[in-house]
Amino acid sequence: MITINEHYLKLQASYLFSDIAKRIAAFQKENPSRSIIKLGIGDVTRALPKASIEAFHRAVDEMAADQSFRGYGPEQGYDFLREAIAENDFRSRGADIAADEIFISDGAKCDTGNIQELFSQDITIAIPDPVYPVYLDTNVMAGRTGDFRDGRYGGLVYLDSTRENNFVPSLPAGQVDLIYLCFPNNPTGSTISLDELKTWVDYARKNKALILFDAAYEAFIQDDSLPKSIYEIEGAREVSIEFRSFSKTAGFTGTRCAFTVVPKECAAFDASGNRQLIHPLWNRRHCTKFNGVSYPVQRAAEAIYSPEGKAQTRELISYYMKNAEMIRLGIDALGFDFVGGENSPYVWIDGKRDSWEFFDLLLNKAGVVCTPGAGFGRCGKGYIRISAFNSHENVAEAMQRISKMLG
Ligand code: MLT
Repeated sequence: MITINEHYLKLQASYLFSDIAKRIAAFQKENPSRSIIKLGIGDVTRALPKASIEAFHRAVDEMAADQSFRGYGPEQGYDFLREAIAENDFRSRGADIAADEIFISDGAKCDTGNIQELFSQDITIAIPDPVYPVYLDTNVMAGRTGDFRDGRYGGLVYLDSTRENNFVPSLPAGQVDLIYLCFPNNPTGSTISLDELKTWVDYARKNKALILFDAAYEAFIQDDSLPKSIYEIEGAREVSIEFRSFSKTAGFTGTRCAFTVVPKECAAFDASGNRQLIHPLWNRRHCTKFNGVSYPVQRAAEAIYSPEGKAQTRELISYYMKNAEMIRLGIDALGFDFVGGENSPYVWIDGKRDSWEFFDLLLNKAGVVCTPGAGFGRCGKGYIRISAFNSHENVAEAMQRISKMLG
C-alpha cells in the first residue's frame, strides 16, 4: 500500500498566495466589470532592464548556432555570473565572498525551502512571526514540527516581530540551532541595523547555531548605514548562509534567477559533535537535484552588473520606491500606524481590524488587492501588507480609492 508523508496533512489549507489568487478570481467572476488593482503578491510589473534584454537576445543567438551552442552548464552556475556577483554584491562592500561560494539557482523560494534538507530532524528551529510562509511550510513538510494549534505549529521557537520591538525580533531566550532571518523583511518591510544583526551572528557563534539570512530585498535599501549582506559582519562566514534573488532587484520573477551563498567555513555538526562543512553538502544536493539555470537567463542576470545595467536597475528600484512613498503618505494621511516602505517595497499596516476582513473590504469596496497579515503568522493578525510593485498610475489610483473608501 502506498502511504503518504503525513506531515503534509498538518499544513494549513493552501499556500497563502494561491489562496488570495482564488479569492480574486472568484471576485472577478462575480464582478466582471470591476477594475482590480493588485498590490498583493510581490510580483514585479516593469520590463527587464534593457541591458538584460540585450544580453538575453545575444545569448539566444549563440544558442542558435552550432559553434556557440551550449548544452548542460555547470549546476552551480557559470563562472561569469558567479564572478560578477562576488565582485559587485559582496567584495565591493567589504564582504569577503568568493565566486565558488555562490550557487546560482532558479529562485530564493526554492533555495530557502530546500536548504532545510541538510539538517537533522531534531534541531530546534527559530522562525520569525510574521514570516514568509515558505520557511515554515517546508519544515512542516519535513516533519520538524508538531500539529497546528492556535495559529502556531508545535515544536518551533517563534520570534515575535511586533510594534514593541520595532519588528526586529529579540534573541531567543534559550538554545536554538537554526535561525531564519529576513531583512529588509518580508512581510513587514522592517530593517535591521549592523549592531542588531551582529548580536545574531554572535549568538549563532556562541550557540553553534546557523543563520539562514534571506536578503532578497537588499536592493531596496536606501539607507547606506544598513547592512545589505550578513557577511558585512565579522565572523558571519562561519555561521550564515545568505539567499539573494534577481526577482525583485531586476524584474526576474518570470525569468527566474537567484543565488545562495555558502561560505567555505560555514559548518554544522554531526551526531558526534564534529564540524561538517555545509558547502560540499549543498554542492552535492545541488548537483543531484538541479541542472542549472539556462544560459540566456544567466547572461541576462550578468548584464545587470554592467555600468548600463547598474543604472537601469537603480532606476527600476527607484520607480517602485516612489510607489512605496505614495503608499506610505496615503496610509499616514488616513491615520494608520505602519512600518516599512522606506528601505523595502512593502508597507505593513495596522488595520485595527481582522486582516482578512480588511482584505475583503479593500477588494469589495475599492477593488484593491493587498495581502492579509494573518497569512504570515499570528503576529500578523490585524495587519495588512501593501506592495509597491505596480505602475505609478495604478498605485496612485489605488490610494485614491482607499482614501475615498476610508476617509
Ligand atoms: C511575496 O509577495 O511575499 C513574494 O512575492 C513571494 C515570493 O517572492 O515568493
